Amino acid sequence: MSASTDRDRLVLDLHDRLVEIEQRLIPTGLHIFGKPSVGSERADLLRMVASFDRPETNARALPALVAEGLNLKKLPTPASAPPTGEDEARERDRIAAIVSGAIETFLGGGIDAAALQLQEVAGVRAQDSLPVLSLLEKISQQLETNVEIESLLRALRGQYIEPGPGADIVQNPAILPTGRNTHAINPYSVPSEMAFAKAEAVTDRLVERYLSEHGRHPRAMALVLWGLDNIKTQGEGVAQALWLLGVRPVRDGLNRVTQVEAIPLAALKRPRIDVVMTVSGIFRDLFSPTVELLDRAVRLVAGLDEPLHQNYVRKNVLEQMEVAACEFDDAVVRVFSNAPGNYGTNVNFMVMDSQWESEETLGDLFVTRKCFAYGRDSRGRPIEGREARVAMDRALTRVEATYQNIDTFEIGITDVDHYFEYLGGISKAVEKRARARPAIYLSDSLSRDAKIRTLEETVQLETRAKTLNPKWYEGMLKHGFRGVAEIENRVSNTFGWSATADAVDDWVYTEVAKTFLLDEAMLRRLRDLNPHSAHSLVNRLLEANGRGYWEVDADVLDQLRDIGLELEDQLEGVAG
Ligand code: BEZ
Ligand code: MG
Repeated sequence: MSASTDRDRLVLDLHDRLVEIEQRLIPTGLHIFGKPSVGSERADLLRMVASFDRPETNARALPALVAEGLNLKKLPTPASAPPTGEDEARERDRIAAIVSGAIETFLGGGIDAAALQLQEVAGVRAQDSLPVLSLLEKISQQLETNVEIESLLRALRGQYIEPGPGADIVQNPAILPTGRNTHAINPYSVPSEMAFAKAEAVTDRLVERYLSEHGRHPRAMALVLWGLDNIKTQGEGVAQALWLLGVRPVRDGLNRVTQVEAIPLAALKRPRIDVVMTVSGIFRDLFSPTVELLDRAVRLVAGLDEPLHQNYVRKNVLEQMEVAACEFDDAVVRVFSNAPGNYGTNVNFMVMDSQWESEETLGDLFVTRKCFAYGRDSRGRPIEGREARVAMDRALTRVEATYQNIDTFEIGITDVDHYFEYLGGISKAVEKRARARPAIYLSDSLSRDAKIRTLEETVQLETRAKTLNPKWYEGMLKHGFRGVAEIENRVSNTFGWSATADAVDDWVYTEVAKTFLLDEAMLRRLRDLNPHSAHSLVNRLLEANGRGYWEVDADVLDQLRDIGLELEDQLEGVAG
């Protein structure tokens, strides 16, 4: 392999990563209640909407139309596999530029002007571009007219609020106009046929990723399932759990998913993977029949007469029955949630308040909150939140990988504390019980070809795309006091991934310190806008070092301590 080929590959890889970061940056600022999005923000949003086929409105993805119009052989997919060569990378950039240009023209001059431009520069026929442009027009109009404040007032008066589907705009433009109530979906429709079809590719990638890194299939995985996510995706997370087990949903005469059937091993072409599912309280409440379905799926698979090396559920259940001298019903429990009427893991609160000594406590807290079993026993009697700590502990001893499906364009794993409380919490619980840190994976719906990333990769990507990206933090700082709080929050959520999964590299904290605190001008801005959050940020970084998550030169720590003291003085009103 020549040096220039190596160099070419490196450059392509770099190009690919930059594109990935660029596509990640939505939204750039906070939403202001009642205010429509404007300018470049709206252009970014429309560009993302236009990059997907919308069969429901006969609209094809704009990048694909442009590629066809230009007679390119291969259709590009955003954030998909790396370009195969420099030519392809150049073609992709060219397509992206044409698409962005068309959207600018649309925003300035309407759909006819944009259609004409696409015809002239890329040979896209108007009859092909008009469906997607009309969709953009509709979305653009709906973004102008939100009823958020009016709906809030109606809610406060106890009046009716129109319901609408829940999702983000890119995923499902039908959520517009905003300011409506998210409606739930019929749990018996879950997973939808589309969700089940889509989940196959994601699950394949997930299993392949583990296989490529560990040389064999995972024998058991722990999955996090959330309610709203499964509403938005019609049950993608549920479908992924079913695929891992190697079963498919079966609909009854009323078209309700009430049963599952095993996919034959010959068709599955891999072992059935044991799956421990922790479902949120919201999921438990909204998807009661689905909880039963998942439990039924595990029981079905555990009962299949198959070679144990092809059916890890059966293998693990039989082993557990023997080792622990327990009944099938005790060994087969795999669906866990909070006690009835309870929600959340509290792991986030414990981390945020710094009220813990060893990381083990975080995993133990997760299990304490989530060790309640749901489903039906072998005699068909409902199990509705029975405390099953021992069963959960045992099930987790075999887990080798943990996973959560990420389905949104808007919220990442360092935007809110819920991802680390759940996926981090379960991973820490597994680490103690299995005596090994699990591999931790997330999916990424931004890419149409079902990308799987490790937790570490995802933290790095979000750090580069948002935390350290001037486009992101300047967008936040436009909001003044709240913006500084958002920056501090994001760093604390990142810290949550150190605490629960040791998944944050030293450079992340070093660059945060350099960008926000060691830069005098920036420090002054943060201090003027919100000294409380600036102070918390300093303390969080010092805590990261104190707990062993961040190795850095002593002089950096000294500087941070000094800054912390100055901020303290300021907060206490001591003249500086
Ligand atoms: C849920 O929809 O299940 C959920 C929402 C927010 C935090 C955790 C779970
Ligand atoms: Mg480290």
